[in-house]
Amino acid sequence: MKITVVGAGNVGATCADVLAYREVANEIVLVDIKEGLAEGKALDIWQKAAINLYDSRTIGSTNDYSKSAGSDVVVITSGLPRKPGMTRDDLISTNAGIVKTVTENVVKHSPNAIIIIVSNPLDVMTYQAHLISKLPRTRVMGMAGILDTARYKAFLAEALNVSPKDIQAMILGGHGDTMVPLPRYTTVAGIPVTEMIATDKLNAIIERTKVGGGELVKLMGTSAWYAPGAAAAQMVEAIVKDQNRVLPVCMQLDGEYGIKNCYLGVPVVLGKNGIEKVLELELNASEKALLETSRKHVKEVMDVLDKLK
Ligand code: NAI
Ligand code: 2OP
Repeated sequence: MKITVVGAGNVGATCADVLAYREVANEIVLVDIKEGLAEGKALDIWQKAAINLYDSRTIGSTNDYSKSAGSDVVVITSGLPRKPGMTRDDLISTNAGIVKTVTENVVKHSPNAIIIIVSNPLDVMTYQAHLISKLPRTRVMGMAGILDTARYKAFLAEALNVSPKDIQAMILGGHGDTMVPLPRYTTVAGIPVTEMIATDKLNAIIERTKVGGGELVKLMGTSAWYAPGAAAAQMVEAIVKDQNRVLPVCMQLDGEYGIKNCYLGVPVVLGKNGIEKVLELELNASEKALLETSRKHVKEVMDVLDKLK
């Protein structure tokens, strides 16, 4: 198995490190446009193999995609991250150009790869990569829901003083303030979360989750990378090991949830062919309304991308 991660910055390098540490593939290629960065980080991760005891070989390349040829899965993290005061949508014009060039190179050298987008604005960059790659919608997807759900679980675990391992949850919609956390589908070891926490506290956690990325940007001056890198690696692992994991993934909807031609996070079964199945949850009226708000927001940003072309 061969995996390529494009963008050897904070998220890309973390993703490659997690993939190597977990021995998800025997060959992991890092590509970046910045001279020497990918080679340096790949060498550093490889030298850590003797300490953390893994065999995965990490290789770096400055914009030479021939090194990535024949990859089974490609993760695209290249692009500008947010600075304080910016929304993810502010990144669109720069990152759309980067994702276009990178996707063209990826598809040229790895025509059979499954592509996972991380670059922001996530839902619209998934749209961009899908358009450029011309791959089936089951093979081009975005990472955001796993991260947003992980933040929600972390806040809940802290409030309830339980392990995050025991929290099951699902978040739908776009990667932004209009995301749709679903308390009705949140449990602690099978117990409905609503039986364990007061409504006002749960609502506060939901609101904190929606701006969870921004909280970290304010603290660090740039966006997060440990949880995002691990989340992208979890998607790669589900595909490479054909795990059929049920995970929230951004994809083009084609009638699911009554939505067409929009890119939103929904629960899917992730296995060797990419998205093996889309899971359609029964939503109540208020959940449907929130998803519609999210759809409208993502569609507006998709329209901005269409006008840029
Ligand atoms: P970073 O600045 O640390 O790394 C980005 C890397 O992309 C840099 O090393 C840069 O040289 C490289 N790059 C730029 N243009 C390139 C090109 N044409 N080809 C190859 N490499 C190129 O940024 P970070 O923190 O790693 O974030 C990367 C992206 O991921 C940002 O757009 C950020 O907003 C997004 N992000 C998305 C998340 C999500 O949940 N979907 C979570 C966290 C970050
Ligand atoms: C995050 O949610 C910025 O999208 C990135 O951390």
